[in-house]
Amino acid sequence: MTRHEVEAFCTETLEALRRIQSPEELEQFRLTYLVQKGRIRQMLDRLRQVPTEEKPAIGRLLNNLRSTVEEEFAALRNRFERQRSHDPTFDPTLPGRLIPRGSLHPVLQTLDRMIDIFVRMGFAVATGPDVEDDHHNFEALNFPPDHPARDMQDTFFLRRTDAHGKPLLLRTHTSPVQIRLMESMQPPIRAIIPGRVYRNEAISARSLAEFHQLEGLCIDERTSFADLKGTMIAFAEQMYGSGIRYRFRPSFFPFTEPSAEMDIECFLCGGKGCRVCKQSGWLEIVGCGMVHPHVLQACKLDPERWQGYAFGFGIERVTMLLTGIDDIRLLYENDIRLLEQF
Ligand code: PHE
Repeated sequence: MTRHEVEAFCTETLEALRRIQSPEELEQFRLTYLVQKGRIRQMLDRLRQVPTEEKPAIGRLLNNLRSTVEEEFAALRNRFERQRSHDPTFDPTLPGRLIPRGSLHPVLQTLDRMIDIFVRMGFAVATGPDVEDDHHNFEALNFPPDHPARDMQDTFFLRRTDAHGKPLLLRTHTSPVQIRLMESMQPPIRAIIPGRVYRNEAISARSLAEFHQLEGLCIDERTSFADLKGTMIAFAEQMYGSGIRYRFRPSFFPFTEPSAEMDIECFLCGGKGCRVCKQSGWLEIVGCGMVHPHVLQACKLDPERWQGYAFGFGIERVTMLLTGIDDIRLLYENDIRLLEQF
């Protein structure tokens, strides 16, 4: 590489740089001359072959070229950028384009929050089928054969029958999964069961034919009503805030004894009474109780050894209370104007 060649290269490079008219040409120049394996780098690499006495002069030429090119390149780039912001068709005050973002349905958001709280308390998550048989939905749960809840009014029966010739049905609650768990595993059991349930009911602002529940089941050797209350209170405080007031009322379910319902103070009116709590100041949030010995026996568990508690929340109910949505049908219509708000 002679001094003459290097001088020619310098002239050629500067001419190329000074011919640039557009950002595209500038980029092309960068790719040809300035990148890692670009022409300037190649020349600097060839410096090694130059005889020692010529090295300082040629080296200086190339280094000068490099700094001149870098300076002029930066200046050009700035100029093009400034030109772009002076482009009359570019209006920096226009609002940006929002990328629409989806979200989970409010019912699923509630369910996720509830599941999180119980999982942190040590509950596993289990599921079961929507199509059930009489045994799991009623029989093993200690519903007497003539119990009104088996009535055609409440249950959607299917034309298909089970092995005993009884019609299959859409589960009316998530409690049949309690039976499936106790039939299929040895205690201790501590599980929650989220899922969809079906009731043959007239659709109104307060009820749908299809909704969601979150069931809970805990079976162990020394489980008491105090454990049940403690679990429900711990849940309610995490879900609704630690200062909330609550009360337990006696209730009835065929599969629990004793049975209770838990109310929390209406957080919309602070207990003074409003439309949502129907002027009572209290909101019912969960049905619960100690698993009935008949249920344990139906699952071949010895009630002398095993006890447990169960509970069941209605998810739409909880969602309505949390969001202030006062017509349950809104949660099923999938009107984007409502869903967008969550
Ligand atoms: N399965 C009951 C219902 O649907 C709720 C419940 C579950 C009550 C578990 C007690 C224990 O109303």
